[in-house]
Amino acid sequence: MLRYLMAGESHGKALTAILDGLPAGLEILEEDINKDLARRQKGYGRGDRMKIETDKVEILNGVRWKKSLGDPITLMIRNKDWENWSMKMSSGEDYFESMKDIIITKPRPGHADLTGYIKYNQYDVRNILEFASARNSAIRVAIGAVCKKFLSEFGVEIFSYVTEIGGIEADYKNMSYDEILNNIDEDMLKTPDKSAEKIMIEKIRKAKKDGDTVGGVFEVVARNLPIGLGTYTQWDKRLDGNLAASLMSIQAIKGVEIGMGFETAKKLGSEVHDEIFYSEDEKFYRKTNRAGGLEGGMSNGEDIVVRAAMKPIPTLYTPLNSVDIETKEPFEASVERSDASAVPAASVIGEAVVAYELAKSFIEKFGGDSMEEIKRNYESYKNYVKNI
Ligand SMILES: Cc1cc2nc3c(=O)[nH]c(=O)nc-3n(C[C@H](O)[C@H](O)[C@H](O)COP(=O)(O)O)c2cc1C
Repeated sequence: MLRYLMAGESHGKALTAILDGLPAGLEILEEDINKDLARRQKGYGRGDRMKIETDKVEILNGVRWKKSLGDPITLMIRNKDWENWSMKMSSGEDYFESMKDIIITKPRPGHADLTGYIKYNQYDVRNILEFASARNSAIRVAIGAVCKKFLSEFGVEIFSYVTEIGGIEADYKNMSYDEILNNIDEDMLKTPDKSAEKIMIEKIRKAKKDGDTVGGVFEVVARNLPIGLGTYTQWDKRLDGNLAASLMSIQAIKGVEIGMGFETAKKLGSEVHDEIFYSEDEKFYRKTNRAGGLEGGMSNGEDIVVRAAMKPIPTLYTPLNSVDIETKEPFEASVERSDASAVPAASVIGEAVVAYELAKSFIEKFGGDSMEEIKRNYESYKNYVKNI
């Protein structure tokens, strides 16, 4: 079974993750992972932290001479700012007495701060925000890059784009995926609709000027998948459920849709379901993909299409009311450095978590300790499907 655990505070020494269950013989290169790490740092509307971080992964173990060994793989991303934080975040020496002035007792609305402080019986909000923050999504992107590499061996392709920012919707439904991919600019808002992008940028600029933030929606597409990943035979094996849970677990994601999603509730059944056809060449096929490639918790062979809605970044330059946990006095929470919008970055994290869920179900279905074995199993299943 493919699984991973991650660790690493925002201003600690490093972020780490252990990926367990990947077959032996997959080529894994740091430079491939670094490409996705760079993509997570792009996009119009990011704050200054992105200028400090130039994330690079180090493969600590599980890979020898560029190939996975079948052992757990440990990935690490060093935090570039560590030298400025080594006392503040020391795991050894206790600097509490000399650092009383940096203790945070002011929780920010929309963050884990207050609930985490109470739940973990803390004295410093930093002990919560360090790991609750979206900084650790970098290591998830690294894990996702390995999963993408695994899936690419079977021709599976995963990509994403932004469909909405601050209520401005992109007009992209009639575009082919090639057109969409040609149109998007990852240095800007990564949206296929160029005229909407201009309005979106204006919306972010205005929000930033007013000390505010905006959210948005991104879509992730996975292509060339086999029929039958995931299963309805137990609730926690459903691929739709696992994709939704993984996307929802990204910081600031507040809604997930599969295929037509919430639109289905407004339509008639005849407008929602994808009719089934058969031809000698194509075998079973559909002319529409309103289900987003998932029926009965399984991939049905069509493109998987999922969307996630990101709330506006909760840390605002315009202060929000809050209460100091120690003094119980009200104060206005504000910030010096934060993103005004991070939807394009969130979409890269979305690709990563989708890649992990697909790789997990792929390995579950096709088994195998080595890439050769899993490829044999996959080919034999493909032949079986071809001959139905
Ligand atoms: C890519 C990305 C970047 C983010 N950047 C910031 C940021 O700069 N400032 C901030 O306050 N929140 C930021 N967030 C959102 C917070 O991490 C998130 O809202 C917070 O941890 C509370 O979690 P919740 O919104 O899931 O409840 C970011 C989220 C993502 C996915």
